[in-house]
Amino acid sequence: MLVKIETAFKELLTCLQTAKMYGTTHPMFQKSLDKAYAAFEDALSDRQDIVIGIVGEELACEKEIFFDLGKLLKPAILYLKERNIERLAFYRGLGKEELGKFVEVISRPKEDFKIEPQQLLELAGIGNISIGKLKVTEKQDKVELRTNLLSLYDFSMDKVTQVVSSVLNLEKIDPRVLKLSLNNIIDGLSIQRQELLKLATMKRYDVEAYVHMLNVAIFAMYFSSRLGFEKSEVLDIGIAALFHDIGKLYISRKTLHKPDKLSEQEFTTIKSHTILGAEFMFKYIDTLGILPVVVSFEHHLKYDSSGYPRLPLLRKQHIVSAIVAICDVYDALSQRRGYKQDYSPDLVYSIMYKDKGSGFDPVLLDKFFQFMGLWPVGSVVALSDASIALVREENDTDIRRPKIEIVFPEDKRRLVDLLQDNSLSIERYLNPWKEGKEYLMLGQ
Ligand SMILES: [Fe+2]
Ligand SMILES: [Fe+2]
Repeated sequence: MLVKIETAFKELLTCLQTAKMYGTTHPMFQKSLDKAYAAFEDALSDRQDIVIGIVGEELACEKEIFFDLGKLLKPAILYLKERNIERLAFYRGLGKEELGKFVEVISRPKEDFKIEPQQLLELAGIGNISIGKLKVTEKQDKVELRTNLLSLYDFSMDKVTQVVSSVLNLEKIDPRVLKLSLNNIIDGLSIQRQELLKLATMKRYDVEAYVHMLNVAIFAMYFSSRLGFEKSEVLDIGIAALFHDIGKLYISRKTLHKPDKLSEQEFTTIKSHTILGAEFMFKYIDTLGILPVVVSFEHHLKYDSSGYPRLPLLRKQHIVSAIVAICDVYDALSQRRGYKQDYSPDLVYSIMYKDKGSGFDPVLLDKFFQFMGLWPVGSVVALSDASIALVREENDTDIRRPKIEIVFPEDKRRLVDLLQDNSLSIERYLNPWKEGKEYLMLGQ
């Protein structure tokens, strides 16, 4: 199995050498590209992807196995590192032309790699390969980590915006690009889950429909992976979640954000976003499958079969619609909106719990908060002894007693696991834009 990968990688390096020596238009290059492509095709015939990382001076695949590529190896490692490439991933579906373009990109002088290597691939239209730094590790300092995740979030945001506007214009979309971008989020979730979720739970003033769509996708992917769905299913759930409100983009902002009470007509218009969205996603059934149609249609149906659209026959929500419905309401309530009061996480929790068993599937709702915690990681909270702390990690067994770091007063600074220490409890949430602002910096 790994022999195939080793062969593919060797052929790739030979192809790269040929490109550097003869250029990519030379017949010699074509010949070596043919060989490399055949090797990749073979290696990808029984797996979804090949991920190769540079660890120190070695190349590694699937963490523990190191290649012995002899003479080729050292200069190749140096060559890739100079171009900020420590991780290469090749996905099934990779085409020969793409592989050729990829070799052309990495054969460029290292000065070209001042921008993110992944961006160079994007520009060249290569969707089935991703390259970049190795996944973030805990050793890296916090600032760098945060920048990485912020750019991951923003990068995904760009992709999402592009794909959604293509869908709105009824243009063809490339589901692989979308999946790759969501895949990056899943990778981000598995390494720095809390930091990434924090980005999504951060209250933002610039609440646009796209932010909501991406956030709901992030929550739904995190939630479904914790529920035990397979990675490929998690990706499909992410896509369905991403498009859940696509029908809203067809409804005037004036109606959507009207501060006063809606007329019956206006309310009917808003409710129609479910049907509009489903009709819309139906056009993409060949590319994205049926799930986005189902979820667009059902995400406002309730657990007890009330909600909308009203149906002649009672029907139960699909489990993915039920997952998205929870993430949808959670994000909508957590976001700071001009026309609404600022909701603290515990208020969001109690609002949602009122609908347990009626609006939401009770088991799923419990699980959701068990995984998310009551106060998201990073929240500023006041404790029962009047000290101020930041939430560091949720405890699955008691959502009200997470691990925290006391940051004020200075002489009390320490980490406390509230599950172990019963003398303290969380009293109140402090708004990070108002009274909590000054304490937020103390936790850096
Ligand atoms: Fe909706
Ligand atoms: Fe929504």
